[in-house]
Amino acid sequence: MEKIIDRMTLEDLSQVIEIEKAVFSNPWEEEMFYSSLTHYHCWKLFNKSASRIIGYLIGEKVMDEFSIYNLAICKEYQKQGLGSWFTRGIINHMRDYGARVFFLEVRRSNNAALRLYERLGFKEIYFRKGYYSEPLEDAIVMMKDERNIKRDKI
Ligand SMILES: CC(C)(COP(=O)(O)OP(=O)(O)OC[C@H]1O[C@@H](n2cnc3c(N)ncnc32)[C@H](O)[C@@H]1OP(=O)(O)O)[C@@H](O)C(=O)NCCC(=O)NCCS
Repeated sequence: MEKIIDRMTLEDLSQVIEIEKAVFSNPWEEEMFYSSLTHYHCWKLFNKSASRIIGYLIGEKVMDEFSIYNLAICKEYQKQGLGSWFTRGIINHMRDYGARVFFLEVRRSNNAALRLYERLGFKEIYFRKGYYSEPLEDAIVMMKDERNIKRDKI
């Protein structure tokens, strides 16, 4: 598969929202995606061979911090290493723009995401009890702190 990482645009939102609704029990409101395009860093994973979006990542950079707010890979493309490849690519890119500390939160039961983030070097720093709804669940807050690491790539 020929795949590329690129900036998300307005024209991409219908495909992105379709994925969001298919993979999350409590998806973002559509409006959040429109607003994200203005306020956050929004990326898509594009399968050139099939000419379709197969994943996306949205995050915010503040000073040297980058917080991942949303990440998904289309159901039929999961468990093929794409989520890891995509997230690593974005982290490398944001590092080039000065990010040194990375944050995210994830449902306690989300083994796929926890595994992915742990493999990329994220560590649990605390949890927010009952943070998520539908179903009610704790959020694990994770951080990857590179401020004292002298290397360019993960
Ligand atoms: C989380 C998600 C992005 C992972 O994407 P992916 O492309 O399937 O991830 P990868 O194939 O790169 O796998 C990453 C690791 O998780 C493991 N993994 C994948 N799916 C898994 C599952 N269902 N259960 C347990 N481990 C799983 C893989 O084996 C891999 O570990 P390894 O490197 O030790 O082999 C994808 O499952 C998804 O979109 N889920 C729904 C949305 C979501 O939960 N987003 C994250 C919100 S914080």
